[in-house]
Formats: sequence, C-alpha cells, structure tokens
Amino acid sequence: MRGVRKTFPGVIAVDGVDFEVSRAEIRGLLGENGAGKTTLMKILYGMVTPDSCKIYLNGTEAHIRSPSDAISNQIGMVHQHFTLVPPLSVLENVILGLEPVSNGMLDTQKALEQLQLLCKSTGWSMDPNSPVEQLPVGLQQRVEILKALFRGAKLLILDEPTSVLTPLETRELFQTLQRLKEQGTTVIFITHKLNEAVTICDRITVMRKGKITGTLSKAEVSFDELARLMIGRPIHKTFQKNPSTSEIILLECSDLWVRGDSKKDAVRRVSLVVRSGEIVGIAGVEGNGQTELVEAIMGLRKVEQGAVRIKGNVRSNVRPLDVINSGVAHIPENRHERGLILDFIVSENTLLGFQFRNEFSTRGILSKHSILELANKIIRAFNVITPSTKTLTKNLSGGNQQKLVAGRELSRSPDLIIAAQPTRGLDLAGTEYIQSLLVQARNEGKGVLLVSADLDEVLNLSDRILVMYEGRVAGELHASEATEETIGKLMGGVHA
Ligand SMILES: Nc1ncnc2c1ncn2[C@@H]1O[C@H](COP(=O)(O)OP(=O)(O)O)[C@@H](O)[C@H]1O
Ligand SMILES: [Mg+2]
Repeated sequence: MRGVRKTFPGVIAVDGVDFEVSRAEIRGLLGENGAGKTTLMKILYGMVTPDSCKIYLNGTEAHIRSPSDAISNQIGMVHQHFTLVPPLSVLENVILGLEPVSNGMLDTQKALEQLQLLCKSTGWSMDPNSPVEQLPVGLQQRVEILKALFRGAKLLILDEPTSVLTPLETRELFQTLQRLKEQGTTVIFITHKLNEAVTICDRITVMRKGKITGTLSKAEVSFDELARLMIGRPIHKTFQKNPSTSEIILLECSDLWVRGDSKKDAVRRVSLVVRSGEIVGIAGVEGNGQTELVEAIMGLRKVEQGAVRIKGNVRSNVRPLDVINSGVAHIPENRHERGLILDFIVSENTLLGFQFRNEFSTRGILSKHSILELANKIIRAFNVITPSTKTLTKNLSGGNQQKLVAGRELSRSPDLIIAAQPTRGLDLAGTEYIQSLLVQARNEGKGVLLVSADLDEVLNLSDRILVMYEGRVAGELHASEATEETIGKLMGGVHA
C-alpha cells in the first residue's frame, strides 16, 4: 500500500502510510485505540474509500473498491464485530452468497467437503450443522475465519481477534495461524496487546496517530521499544502499593444468586469479601455473571438468594441511591448507558448522584454556583479535558468521559469502589491514569472491587483475584500466586 491517506471529519485516521507485507508472513499491526489500524486495513479490504492510496499485489497495481474486489483478489478480513447470520448453520454461513451450484442445484455436498478440508488444514473440528447462534463466541470467530478461507483468502486480516477469546482459545488461534502460514497464507494480525504481537508475529508494524512509527522483526523486538513506538514513551506498569493488612470488611456477598436478563441463573452462589485497603479483582471472560454480580451489589438487579452486606449492614434489594449513600462508588461497565447522560453538559454529569444533597439544591431548586464549583473541582482534580463545563458530554473523547465518571464517583469520598471494566476502550495513557486512581484509593484504605476482562489489568492491580466462570467463583488466588496460566485455565473452565 503506497501513500495511504484517509481523513474523517475532524480527524486524520491514516496520514501518509506506506505498508507492505510478504507472502506467508504473520504481521502484527500494533497501536493504541484510534491509531488508524482498522481504517488502514478496511482500505485494503475495500470497505473504506481512501483519499489516496495505491495498492499493489505481487507487484501489480490492483483496484480494490469494495470487499468483493478484495475477495476476488484473495484478501479476506474478519472484523471485530462478526457478520454471521445467527440462525443459520456453520455450513450455511460459510457458503452464504457463493453457494456452489451444479446443474442449477445447490451443491451442498461439495461445499461440505470443502469445509471439511478447511477444518483439517486449520486443525479445527466443527459441526457444520450447528446453528451459529448456539456456538460460543470463540467458535463463531472460527466460522468467520473459515468463511474467509472458503472464499480463497490467501491474505487474511484479523482485527483484534483475541479480544473475545480466553487465553486458551487465543493459544489455539495462534497455532492455527502458524499452520496457515506454513501453508502459504499471509496473516495481518491487528492487536493492541504487546505480548500477543511478540508471541505470534514475524514482524510487527506499530502505528500511532495515523502514522507508522516503526516495523520491528521478531529478532530485534523488545517490549520497551514497542511501547515507545506505540505511545512515545515507556509504559509504567508497576504501581506503588503499601501492604494491605486491614481486617475491616467493607463488602461481603454470601451465597448470592442472581438471575440474568434471560431469567437464567447468572450468578450462582457467589461469596466474596472486600476489605479496607485491598483491590479484589474479578477476572473472567465476559458473560460469566460479572455484570449481574455488580448490578446486584449496586441495587440495580434483584438478589434472589443470599445477601449483600456493606460495612456489616444488609444492603441487598435496596435502592441504588441507598447503596451509594452507604459509601459506595460505582464506575459502571457501560458508561454511556449508566455512567453519563451524553446529551447533558459536563457540569450536569458531574452532579449526577449528588443532586439531592443540600449543598446543591434547596427545596428542589438547583444551586448553579455550587454545581459549577463541583464541576470545576472534578475537571481539575481528574484532568478531564473539555472546552468548558457547558460542553455536551457526548463531545468529549472516550477517555475524558471515563475520567469524568471516575472523578465524579471518587469525589464522593466512598469507602468502597465498584469498578467494572474501568479502562475499557481507553488508550494507554488514560488506562494508566484510571488505574493509578484505583491504586491510590486502595492505598488510602478504601476497598475496591475491580471487574475486568483485561487479564493484565487484573494481574497488575489486584491483591486477590477471583475468577468467575459460568456464574460461579471458579477459583480464588492471591496476587503472588496468580499467573496468566493459572487464571487463564480457570477462565476457560479448566480446573487448575
Ligand atoms: N467511520 C468513521 N467516521 C469518523 N471517524 C472515524 C471513522 N472510523 C474511524 N474514525 C476515526 O479514525 C481514527 C482511527 O480509527 P481506527 O482506524 O478505528 O483506529 P484503531 O483501529 O487503531 O483503533 C480514530 O480517531 C477514529 O475515531
Ligand atoms: Mg480498530
């Protein structure tokens, strides 16, 4: 790809990039959120029209203006959000749109044989007749990859494929990529995870702010160098933590049962405690009951059996406001749904949850002056970058929205902080900042329940780690004994 440039209103997504990749190589495309990785690859796949770009395949200029152009040039792409048709079977999804025909009849037998061949070459076993909607995400991803290969892809682009996988599934994916490479397939692997890039890639290209900042081969690669290319400085990953010795229990869940949206038991007999001065991490692949657990603690979902105690008092099935008033702060998993009102201005969002306090309203009339003071205090203390307190919250970047939520919640002076996926979608600088706030709160003697699908985050921050699997606590480990391996197994339902 030569001279690639793509602007969206107000942002240069790809800024003069030259990118080349060799046959049968696994190339990492590494970068923070917003670096331009997806856009660059969508241009190659014909999904995004560039302002300028020339594409050469095997030395010849190719004109790729749509995904079907890309497919006929043997380029396939698996997106972050799948494009499968849920009620259709694996086979039907794989052949969708290009069903092989003989004598005007659909030749499913031929397609089936082809699919079985592909399963063999990838090393996956797959029931071609299972409806895709019944497969776990990890298997759905395999269907997406098989679909691309079925269309003859010799250059396979995978956009953050591991974000939906357990560590075990990730390893299996890597084995398959290795096999595909040996069979002559080229893989472009988009990720923001350094260790994944280093594990699987022959070379790694790093992007930052729309530009390529470097390409390193496996032999010369180091985490420090990658991190520098990615964010322009080395990452600080160790947090200063004083030893936690307190016996004061701030949160206790005992034998908790909670139902999910589908009325199935989502939390099954979970017991845990969070003490003053500790971060208790909950690891697990998303969808194993973490969301429902947090909602039950926060009074947002009914507790069917068991009890939630906050500082010794039973607080199950009370109003969310009662939970907050017991000294609990909540950084919700979905900041757009539960953390902020995007159509409100910044100062209104800093007030949420405080609005009943006397200092901010008298007999139902809000006090503009003290609200502004609160907003400015939070903006300053938590580095929220916003043109003004009157800016619509939806116009802030994701990182600044999250700083706003975290800042508001922490400025309540809570004893207990329930932080769910607190750094999701943030870039490294934003992530570090939010993480440092949680560690600081812990060091001040607050208790933190950290629910995160990001294993590195859980390992870096937690004093103790619980792993949830299918609604239960599959295991509990002290930070000192926890490794990716042990947690990964528990996350994938394998008993250590
Ligand atoms: N369809 C779009 N409309 C407007 N802006 C976009 C669109 N797609 C991407 N962007 C912007 O382009 C930049 C690069 O995004 P993207 O390629 O998705 O980065 P990455 O995949 O590295 O996270 C970001 O600032 C993003 O907000
Ligand atoms: Mg992307």
